[in-house]
Amino acid sequence: MSHADYLSPASINSLQLKNRFIKAGTFENMTPGGVPGANLNNFHGKLADGDIAMTTLGYCAVENDGRLNENMMYMHEGIRPELTALIADLHQRGTKVSGQMGHCGGFSKNKELQRRRPLGPSFGINGLGLSRGMLFCDAMTLDDIESLIKSYHQAAIFMKSVGFDALEIHFGHGYGLCQFISPKTNKRRDQYGGNLENRMRLPLQVLAAVRDAVGDDFPLLGKISMTEGVRGGLHYDEAIAMCKFLDKAGIDGIITSGGSSTMNPMIMFRGGNILPGMLRTEKSPLMRLLLRLMGKSMFKNYPYSELYFLQHAKRIREAVSCKMIYVGGASSNTSFMTLMEQGFDFIQLGRTLLSDPDLPHQARAKSDFVSRCTHCNDCISTIESTQGIHCTQFPS
Ligand SMILES: Cc1cc2nc3c(=O)[nH]c(=O)nc-3n(C[C@H](O)[C@H](O)[C@H](O)COP(=O)(O)O)c2cc1C
Ligand code: SF4
Repeated sequence: MSHADYLSPASINSLQLKNRFIKAGTFENMTPGGVPGANLNNFHGKLADGDIAMTTLGYCAVENDGRLNENMMYMHEGIRPELTALIADLHQRGTKVSGQMGHCGGFSKNKELQRRRPLGPSFGINGLGLSRGMLFCDAMTLDDIESLIKSYHQAAIFMKSVGFDALEIHFGHGYGLCQFISPKTNKRRDQYGGNLENRMRLPLQVLAAVRDAVGDDFPLLGKISMTEGVRGGLHYDEAIAMCKFLDKAGIDGIITSGGSSTMNPMIMFRGGNILPGMLRTEKSPLMRLLLRLMGKSMFKNYPYSELYFLQHAKRIREAVSCKMIYVGGASSNTSFMTLMEQGFDFIQLGRTLLSDPDLPHQARAKSDFVSRCTHCNDCISTIESTQGIHCTQFPS
């Protein structure tokens, strides 16, 4: 394969992208009160100017109660003008825009929650809500499930209408739909729990509802966790069957991530352990105590290695016919080339675009390009900062 391949255009469903680089969804925390503005626009504008083919607005909650906290956007008419203007500006700067459709399920510290408690597949502890006295989550009833599917449908109609070019449904990282897929968090005895087919029922109903909302030619991606990294949770072997379900149901592209924000996040972004940073920035004394007591078992050490999901993502590549989007430790031209050779269609980049927002330009200009990101993971503790996420090592 020639050097230019990852710089060459390619399509996903009816959408043509100018190169193979897509910004991975990284919740920016640049939407105070849930409203997008200049800060978020500048962040994605820099990526657009750096020649990214498509950027992703991280964690767009499909309803108010799908937010992890009240500073996340949720998809509703109240933010139509701001969102439309932001996407139009990014289009003008030459990039396409994807929206990551998220729902927290039973894992929330949203002060503006409308329901009595956050809802997941099963009753349990709401780890994120402990600092705010939101100790538990409830099991969804069948009516709740129906209403959740409608929320995805309505959010998708809204997102298409404000100008998003693609939508990425979040099926991974321990959030709402992942809680249904995972045998660790889904203890239901009805048609939504038990074997994989049942645990995939809601995610597939959501996919069908979103497809119905946007039409056959609109690109729909899905981000999954191939493993949750905990005993009794999702594991790599089951991920292949999970992806076959999504492929058969008409998804256009699968993003093969891993880990669980609720149980084992470090698998997702391997490198420096984020526990010290969390202890430094956590404001709640109760959460700090819990982090001291339980942090080491939740934030395990996974040293960085280049292309750390490649071996398992390749097995999925071989099992499905939809487009494959690699994520996880791709940071040099050598790696981009490897991914093209291994049959991946696109490459999502998270941290390397925080350290090098003009990465695609640099990859084109220098044949031996290597990102300067050290994978120290200090940017992850900036998620709660008023400035929003940023690279602390190489401020841009
Ligand atoms: C600061 C930060 C925030 C993140 N937020 C999200 C998010 O909102 N949704 C998501 O799916 N993944 C999120 N991730 C994970 C990334 O999308 C990506 O899967 C991970 O960083 C691995 O890719 P990388 O090695 O290119 O950074 C986040 C990562 C970072 C560093
Ligand atoms: S803080 Fe900067 S160098 Fe460290 S992991 Fe994040 S982007 Fe990379």
